[in-house]
Amino acid sequence: MKAQALVFMGAPGAGKGTQARKVATEFAIPHISTGEILREAVAGGAPLGLAAKEKMDAGMLVPDAIMCKIVEERVSREDCRNGFILDGFPRTLGQARFMDEMLQRQDRMRLLVLNLQVEPVLLMKRLTGRRTCPVCGRIYNMFFNPPANDSVCDLDRARLIERADDKEDAIRHRLAAYDRDTSPLIDYYEDRGVLHNVNGSRDPEAIAKELHGFLRTA
Ligand code: AP5
Ligand code: MG
Repeated sequence: MKAQALVFMGAPGAGKGTQARKVATEFAIPHISTGEILREAVAGGAPLGLAAKEKMDAGMLVPDAIMCKIVEERVSREDCRNGFILDGFPRTLGQARFMDEMLQRQDRMRLLVLNLQVEPVLLMKRLTGRRTCPVCGRIYNMFFNPPANDSVCDLDRARLIERADDKEDAIRHRLAAYDRDTSPLIDYYEDRGVLHNVNGSRDPEAIAKELHGFLRTA
């Protein structure tokens, strides 16, 4: 795979984190999840976390100015020189335009957008059933891929956690924010010829296999 900026797009629960983690390992490039960066700031009590927590818990988007600054700082680091994966950014037209300018400045790195398309009826179950390992970041699902023991990670035995925004009310707001603010980016990237749609309703291994084959030659 050439050095490029890979963007994982898709509704909440589409499987962005699940697939981005695998691609990052396979191609040895950093996986940058803006949701994860915000959750770490919340957990660590950083000023950024204090500003973002209320919005996140309610399922609303954090303002563009904050998100663009975070991403610009992160991708300017040395480990992103040979490419990187963005998961959860951009998710507004303002963020997409900012990223276009940023990539122009950064040696005109090529952009490829992977859009995980998932049947909406699956999303609620994926989100309410999600559990995450706070130590290794592995993502489980109590309905679709449960851990061997209900409450601990198979790999490091850490107690699994449930995200604060995986409550039905917040999920509804997140899905609405996706439809309103993020789904217009599909046309935006299609018009630029950088969009690749992936059927994300299949099992995770089938999706990973397709992505691997596609990215090897991309
Ligand atoms: P973020 O963390 O990005 O959340 P999200 O977009 O709502 O997406 P999720 O992480 O919930 O889903 P995912 O697609 O990663 O799915 P996953 O792989 O975990 O953002 C959180 C919040 O931060 C936002 O609401 C906002 O407030 C703020 N924020 C972040 N970025 C921002 C930005 N750029 N601008 C403004 N605000 C921002 O999978 C979900 C579940 O399904 C898991 O249980 C998994 O095991 C399971 N699963 C995955 N794939 C499959 C499959 N193929 N089959 C069956 N189950 C599957
Ligand atoms: Mg995620």
